[in-house]
Formats: sequence, structure tokens, C-alpha cells
Amino acid sequence: MTTNYSAFLYLISAVCFIFSLRGLSSPKTAIKGNWSGIIGMIIAVAATLCLPAVSAFGFIVVAIVLGGIVGLIIARRIAMTALPQLVAAFHSLVGLAAVFVAWASFLSPAAYGIGTPGHIALSSLIEMSLGVAIGAITFSGSVIAFSKLQGLLPGKPFRFKGQTLLNALLAVVIIALLVLFAKTESTFAFLLLTLLSFALGFLLILPVGGADMPVVISMLNSYSGWAAAGIGFTLRNSLLVITGALVGSSGAILSYIMCKAMNRSIINVLLGGGGKAGAAGAADDTAKTANIGSAEDAAVLLENAQKVIIVPGYGMAVAQSQFALEEMAAILKKKGAIVKYAIHPVAGRMPGHMNVLLAEAKIPYEDVFEMDDINGEFSDADVVYIIGANDVTNPLAKTDSSSPIYGMPVLDVEKARNIIVVKRSLKGTGYAGIDNPVFYAPNTMMLLGDAKKVTEEINKFLK
Ligand code: TAP
Repeated sequence: MTTNYSAFLYLISAVCFIFSLRGLSSPKTAIKGNWSGIIGMIIAVAATLCLPAVSAFGFIVVAIVLGGIVGLIIARRIAMTALPQLVAAFHSLVGLAAVFVAWASFLSPAAYGIGTPGHIALSSLIEMSLGVAIGAITFSGSVIAFSKLQGLLPGKPFRFKGQTLLNALLAVVIIALLVLFAKTESTFAFLLLTLLSFALGFLLILPVGGADMPVVISMLNSYSGWAAAGIGFTLRNSLLVITGALVGSSGAILSYIMCKAMNRSIINVLLGGGGKAGAAGAADDTAKTANIGSAEDAAVLLENAQKVIIVPGYGMAVAQSQFALEEMAAILKKKGAIVKYAIHPVAGRMPGHMNVLLAEAKIPYEDVFEMDDINGEFSDADVVYIIGANDVTNPLAKTDSSSPIYGMPVLDVEKARNIIVVKRSLKGTGYAGIDNPVFYAPNTMMLLGDAKKVTEEINKFLK
């Protein structure tokens, strides 16, 4: 196939990717969006394999088969709750690929048609130094994010004195090395640039923790896109440039939206200044009593409610209780109650986590509301049913400036007439590691147990 034909096919797949992003922006069109992405990717791979320069088919087939098997095993085994760390792990591979491609083109420039050793075109030197810097930051940053989400490193922010200054200094040295490398083509400058970029990635993500992790994941998503675009320039592959730019810009927009939703400054999050680490998990020795109820008590409360708002959180995902929840909502609706779901933008462990689970249980989209659209309705709700949610309902975010989640907008659950909280223990904290005063409020009933089991028990009584 000639390069012209493949350029045309690349254009078609780029359009497919744009339609895919458009489709994925709403649960109603998400399946079509997914298909559009799959078709775009098939066209892209086929067009690349047909390029005249592609010859090592043996290696390619082996790589596709091995990669396909690993991907299939991971996709079948991965728990929904572990998706964020999986995404972080995949981002790290994109970053590493960018580093390898940049080094390969530096060591064998003739193979990439960008000159000979010592005489590489200036534009290519700039491209490969940018690619190596962004790729290395993405790799090491993603490894730290993965380790924090997987529990291999403590999730809390890790800070030391002068950290911001050190990061700023590293960034300046990296920029200076970039200029030096572009001017001199020095191997030493390129090596130092690579190593310092790895170090900056570690240092940038280490101080981030608690409620700011979601923003970091989406920032790393954006970086991995720019790293892929960098590879695209080096490989002279227009589709990789377009796809990388799409991932990079959509990740940046998502990060911005999430920062706005959590009332965080993106610059602060990246410099590790989002939450206040010192207060995380601070022990509160005041004796607190909670009203512990039973499934039967909860069923009575729910049966008599005219308006029920359900607040799902990470615990619903752990317990996979969305199906029992759907059954409960259906029973209550049959009895004449209004049932709505309130979704916080960072509930769970990944963007859209709750929406995906509720859609899996075929909960109607029109019953599901974003935080800003439902926050005004809590004051006229008879019962709020909080199932495995903690941080996203914590009113301390509004009042306690020493709290690690201070400033994050939360669901105004405390305004409801009655609150039912389902979680396994009183001691278990949420992601940010802090207690929630809602659990000890006089109008709160705590139902201690696994979210699925407790909801199923309530359903038995309701029936
Ligand atoms: P969390 O604050 O993490 O609280 C989850 C609650 O679920 C805990 O209180 C836990 O208490 C309970 N739980 C766990 N397993 C359970 C089970 N099987 N049955 C019943 N309850 C169970 O969750 P949230 O309110 O959804 O807030 C999300 C947090 O994660 C935010 O801080 C957010 O910033 C962070 N985060 C979000 C993302 C994205 S993008 N959404 C990514 C990373 C981090 P017990 O242990 O006592 O049961």
C-alpha cells in the first residue's frame, strides 16, 4: 500500500477516535463510542502493517499475540476496584515506550531518516528530548501512583522541607539540559536529561495523596498522551501524533474539570500542595456514640419515606452491591416513593466509577444526578441511603480547614431528615483516612456490615 493510501486510512481512524471520545462522554452513547474506537484502532493497525517500510512481520505477530494474551488475562482477572492502578500501570508503559523510542532514534538516527550520529536534524533533537523528558516523568510518576493505589506505598502525601524548591530546581535544570542537548547533541546531556526526568516524576507524585489522587491519575493520562504524540513525531507517524494529542488534551480537560469539582488548583496538586497532610488520620479522642440499627429498622424507615436519595461510594464497588441496590430502589418505587441517586465526581476510585456500576445494574439514567444538580434536594429527602461512601459525604470538608479534604465540595447529606449509613465497621475510614461526623449525628442510623448483604437483608424485610 502506498503512503498516500495509509495517510487516508489514518485520517479515517482519527475521525473514528474523535467520534469515540464524543460517544464516551455520555452513558447513553458510550457503547457506540467504544465501537467507534475499536474500528478506528483496527483500521490504524491494518494501515500501519500495510506500509511499505514495515517488513519484520514475524516480530510483529509475536508481539501482538503475546501482548494480546497478557491483555486478555488482565482484562478477565482485574477487579473493578483495581482499575485505577491498572490505568496507572498502563500509563507507565506508554511513558517507557516514549523513552525507548527517543533513545533508539538517538542511537540509530539513519534508521529513522533523521540524519547520522553527530548530525541529527535540530527539529528531531528537540522532539526526542521532549519525548524522553515527558516519557520519563510519566513512567516514574505512574509507578508511584500505581504503588500508592495498590497499597505498596502509603496513600498519604509524603512531604519534606524544600520539596517544592527542589522540584522547581529540577525543572529548570531539565529545561537547560534540553537546550544544551539540542545545541550539542551530547550523549551525556541526553543521559542526564533522562535520569533527572525520572527523578522529577517520582518527586512530583510522592507528595500527592488522599483526595488528590484522582487528579493525578488523569494528569498522568494526559502526560502519556503527550508522550505518545512525541513518539509520533519521532516515528513520523501522523496518526500517533493525532491520537497522542487527543489523549493529552482530553486528559488535561478532565484534570481541569476534576480540580474544579474538588475545589483544587491544578498547580497546587502538581506541586503537592493540594490537601493538608498533617491532619490526615488525626486521632479524635472525644467519646462518640453512634446509633447502630438493624436491617429491619432501616426497612421500616425506608418503607415510610416518600423521597429517598441513594449515595453510592467505593464500598458499593467493593461489595458489588449495585444489583441489590437496584432491587431495593425498584421495591421502594413500587410502593410510591421517589428514588434518586446522587453521584459525587470522585466517588469510588476512578472517574465515572459509580455511573458504570449503576449502568451495569440497569438503573435508569434519569434517576442518576450529578452533585451540583442534587445538592439542593437533600433538605427535602426523608431518607438518605449512604452505601459505602465516606469522604464524599464528610461535612468537615466545608468547615475544618485542617482537614485533608478541606475545600472539596461534598454531598450535603446531613441536611436530610434521616440518614442511613452502610459500612462494615465504625472504625474503617475512607480514602482520605479521616472520621466522618455524619456517622455520629442524632438522625443517623449506622448499619454495620457488607453493603451487599445488608441491602439484600433490607430487601427481604421490604418484600
Ligand atoms: P471512601 O471515602 O474511600 O469510603 C469508602 C467506604 O466504604 C469506607 O468508609 C469503608 O468503610 C466502606 N466500605 C468498604 N468496603 C465495604 C463493603 N464491602 N461494604 C460496605 N462498606 C464498605 O469512598 P468515597 O466516599 O466513594 O470517596 C472516594 C474517595 O476516594 C475520595 O477521597 C476520592 O478523592 C478518592 N479517590 C477517588 C478516585 C476517583 S477518580 N473517583 C481515585 C482515587 C481516589 P469500612 O471499611 O468500615 O467498610
